Amino acid sequence: MTEMLTVVTHPLVQHKLSIMRDKDTSTSKFRQLLREISMLLAYEVTRDLPMTTVTIDTPLCPMDAPMLEGRKLALVSILRAGNGLLDGILELIPAARVGFVGLYRDPETLQPVEYYCKLPPDLDQRWTIVVDPMLATGNSSAAAVDLLKKAGAKNILFMCLLAAPEGVQRMHEAHPDVRIVTAALDSHLNDHGYIVPGLGDAGDRMFGTK
Ligand code: URA
Repeated sequence: MTEMLTVVTHPLVQHKLSIMRDKDTSTSKFRQLLREISMLLAYEVTRDLPMTTVTIDTPLCPMDAPMLEGRKLALVSILRAGNGLLDGILELIPAARVGFVGLYRDPETLQPVEYYCKLPPDLDQRWTIVVDPMLATGNSSAAAVDLLKKAGAKNILFMCLLAAPEGVQRMHEAHPDVRIVTAALDSHLNDHGYIVPGLGDAGDRMFGTK
């Protein structure tokens, strides 16, 4: 059975991630590496997609060739940092439909509140891959998955760059059916909810903001 948490330990992924973690890595390099790692993670997150065969003619003979089955995929980016992971995976799966979910944390209740949601139709008939670089507390990720399930999504995968144990636990408790694929499982969250050792604020590092 496929593990519900997969850490992609491939040397290329780990090498690129170490450069991303370095505080002196430039914004443009950070973005480029995130895009590259996204493609490598996409290879793993799509591993169990259902396949079918179609008959094609090679220059030599007919053959039953393996193809992805059925409806196209849906990719859902959690704004704004999710967009950095979206670019790479979309390059590999250009026909995928794309949705966006925006959530902010209510300063009083500390609960995630939706401010934007635009999703592809027929989510119940698609595999949905949610992308967000940082699985920190897991609160916004779990809320985003709640939203997708309400919209009908059934087969949901979660792809991130870094995960904290706290976030993985939160997601497993809230959504035990959602497989998580990450490039690393870090040590813990600090008092401000940052992943340690982490890489800082993924959105700021990606877009050069503060
Ligand atoms: N979001 C980030 O961008 N970084 C963290 O470390 C945690 C949440």
